[in-house]
Amino acid sequence: MQILARLCMSADGYVTTPNGWPPQVVDPAHVPGESHGIPEFLQSCEAALMGRTTFEPALGNDRWPWPDLKVFVLGSHRPAGTPDDVTLDDDPVRLLEAVRSANRGGDVHLIGGPRTIDTFVGLGALDQLELVVLPFFVGAGMRLTDSLDPDTGLSFERSRSLPGGSVELVYSVSSDGGVPLARQAGWSPLSQGRRQD
Ligand SMILES: NC(=O)c1ccc[n+]([C@@H]2O[C@H](COP(=O)([O-])OP(=O)(O)OC[C@H]3O[C@@H](n4cnc5c(N)ncnc54)[C@H](OP(=O)(O)O)[C@@H]3O)[C@@H](O)[C@H]2O)c1
Repeated sequence: MQILARLCMSADGYVTTPNGWPPQVVDPAHVPGESHGIPEFLQSCEAALMGRTTFEPALGNDRWPWPDLKVFVLGSHRPAGTPDDVTLDDDPVRLLEAVRSANRGGDVHLIGGPRTIDTFVGLGALDQLELVVLPFFVGAGMRLTDSLDPDTGLSFERSRSLPGGSVELVYSVSSDGGVPLARQAGWSPLSQGRRQD
């Protein structure tokens, strides 16, 4: 079992619109469950893991977004209408244990949002990050997560173009990942260097 985070991100770096929707929902190419490479991604997945804020809007959807996945939610209360077979817990360590003990060998789609990804990155549970960069700006919203800075150890694995102009970027999470030179103190163009006088 691997835990795979996959999020859509606007070209200006936001994983939500200014009003809190995932940015892919305003993409003309968006078809729920079909676009942005999601069917291929889900082929290896048997479970979905997400925070309560991300989970709750699905309860009002016409279409249940995770028909073939066992659903696990991190949250302190069970929203009205939550199906009985959804596992909800307010303790991320306990929830991770429940995910692992239910697992039959498939992968887990860590859907988000940023707070929940932070939590599982903090537990060292993330194996892979996939970003789908959308071909438009939204101007404001939530950014991915402070935990996913270069020190997290993201190693680029592959990319591909998707219909509608999006680009999928796949990173593994490993201790030797990252681009340390980009953050090295004092490594800057001479034109931006401090004067020595
Ligand atoms: N771009 C994408 O592909 C994508 C994907 C998913 C989500 N999103 C967006 O992300 C936004 C939501 O992100 P978010 O970060 O605000 O919320 P979130 O991670 O979906 O859920 C946050 C909730 O999860 C619980 N939680 C998180 N960390 C916890 C911890 N360490 N211990 C205990 N409980 C914890 C808490 O639930 P309680 O409040 O019940 O205690 C918390 O309020 C939405 O706007 C959604 O549209 C975007």
